[in-house]
Amino acid sequence: MSTLEKIDLKNTPNHIAIIMDGNGRWAEKQGESRLFGHGIGVESVREVLKGAQETNVKYLTLYAFSTENWNRPKAEVEGLMNLLVTTISNEVDELNKNNVKISTIGDLDRLPGDCKAEMISAFECTKTNTGVNLILALNYSAKLELVNAVKSIANDVVNGEYDIDAIDEQTIVQQLYTSEIPDPELLIRTSGEHRVSNFLLWQIAYTEFYFTNVLWPDFRKENLYDAIFDYQSRERRFGLVSEQIEKKA
Ligand code: IPE
Ligand code: IPE
Ligand code: MG
Repeated sequence: MSTLEKIDLKNTPNHIAIIMDGNGRWAEKQGESRLFGHGIGVESVREVLKGAQETNVKYLTLYAFSTENWNRPKAEVEGLMNLLVTTISNEVDELNKNNVKISTIGDLDRLPGDCKAEMISAFECTKTNTGVNLILALNYSAKLELVNAVKSIANDVVNGEYDIDAIDEQTIVQQLYTSEIPDPELLIRTSGEHRVSNFLLWQIAYTEFYFTNVLWPDFRKENLYDAIFDYQSRERRFGLVSEQIEKKA
């Protein structure tokens, strides 16, 4: 029996974020290059997208490239950027057919020109779609996102457009890349690493974490179902005690 049949489809997470990790180790195990591993990882992206559609997940955020990843060997960085361009241009028709809306978080300006152009074109092509929101974190750093938010708010205060006492959580939320996106209920990290690596620090304040040893190129729909099923067994208390949660339910 597939885990899908055990999932309560009315109570799946609205937003799942994934740190897709382990492409390099997967490739090494096969005696292949790291780039080969990244290429195979694209199939896993197709899988989770299908899995998200089947489980009524509305937002899927995938960590594809961090600001720290620029420090990898030049050939790997270039290979990843090329993979991004070819994948997006090959997939955009299929994404459209499946009513997927694609967008990005992160600083697109530092991406090579063709990458940035490809992302903007995919965004334009799919912006009226109403199915799954596929959000790619590209050249993303949560710390930088927060630094930029602080700068922008400080600027408004200096210009007299904002009163310091009026600053609240919403003021900060509005300055984040994710201002239009609800916080993820579930964060998955593959490859057995138990860290956040500068991903969505503000947005995961009350997110449930799910770690799996599966390397990203091996990740399939069934692994997504397992994560959702595990999530559904948890009690999210948000600082309250159990009895209060039961009363609310
Ligand atoms: C994740 O796989 C993909 C990116 C960070 C772009 P890795 O390339 O980090 O794979 P490992 O962690 O070295 O195995
Ligand atoms: C996190 O993976 C970034 C992405 C998945 C894009 P890394 O492989 O770069 O993270 P660390 O270095 O293991 O923390
Ligand atoms: Mg890694």
